[in-house]
Amino acid sequence: MIFRQLFDQTSSTYTYLLASRHGGEALIIDPVLERVDRYVQLLKELDLRLVKAVDTHLHADHITGLDALRERTNCITVMGEQSKADVVSIRVRDGDRVDIEGVSLDVAYTPGHTDDSYSYILPDRVFTGDTLLIRGTGRTDFQNGDARAQYDSIFGRLMKLPDETLVYPAHDYKGDTVSTIAEERTFNPRLQVKSVDEYAELMANLNLPNPKMMDVAVPANMRIGLAQNIVADRGWALTADEVKRLLGQKDVALIDLREAQERHRDGVIPGSLHVAYPDVQENLQSDGLLRQLADAAGKQLVFYCAYGERSAMALQAAQAAGLTTARHLHGGLQAWKNAEGPLSS
Ligand SMILES: [Fe+2]
Repeated sequence: MIFRQLFDQTSSTYTYLLASRHGGEALIIDPVLERVDRYVQLLKELDLRLVKAVDTHLHADHITGLDALRERTNCITVMGEQSKADVVSIRVRDGDRVDIEGVSLDVAYTPGHTDDSYSYILPDRVFTGDTLLIRGTGRTDFQNGDARAQYDSIFGRLMKLPDETLVYPAHDYKGDTVSTIAEERTFNPRLQVKSVDEYAELMANLNLPNPKMMDVAVPANMRIGLAQNIVADRGWALTADEVKRLLGQKDVALIDLREAQERHRDGVIPGSLHVAYPDVQENLQSDGLLRQLADAAGKQLVFYCAYGERSAMALQAAQAAGLTTARHLHGGLQAWKNAEGPLSS
């Protein structure tokens, strides 16, 4: 596995780059806006294609690099379903998996530091965000933090991982880079408590100042969605009601861009075809399915995904490839559900 731990000195944030091979797909965890140039350069140097950018939670101490990376690489953005970020491409929940070629992360909901905190687990390591730090734990005094929930996340979830599991946190302020579950259980001063009450009391008496960046970072990190209005202004967006009227029409092909896991979980618009977002470019080539549907079969393509992010990006690619009748469902399946559009499993 290709694994890089990158550091942002200003916010003491660790960012992780994962891939299974040179020339393949990559995933990044907790990217920092000011470091995006460096990530893009490193991706190029390692011959990697960034396909997913994940934030473990909505950060208060730095501005996320999620939307800048999406603009630069067309990657998919991922956060938890509880996140207050306006639009992310995929919202995960406990028990999901986040997959790229050769790497599959287990998703564990570990609230407490915030109510949208997640940990991402590989067989030998865990990315704990700010839930569990090295010899510390993330503060629980703002952003719907909850010391009792954090106690459950740490003792009920993370401490149940094998002892030798490597712990990679989102921050370190002392220069430590990695720990293990066993090490933290024994030596983390915050974990030397006998009860949830004792932990809650300890966390209530930390009296920490607010992060310097908080007033800037939190609002910025809540507005990371791709401006679907840009696509709408060009007249390329369809409302859910407009798409409803296209259902069953022979000269229209609805294209679902989501992953199999999302389709299975949330259902599909009846009659739609499946082309996963990462395969769109390939399918726009002369012998690709999307090209064939549009050119040979004369169909109007209508893309959709979960929230309209991936479909807006796919639509721009299709338009750039000359498929001028292509459109997308503004707001994605969420808008479809709100409009009580039919779904099949
Ligand atoms: Fe945090």
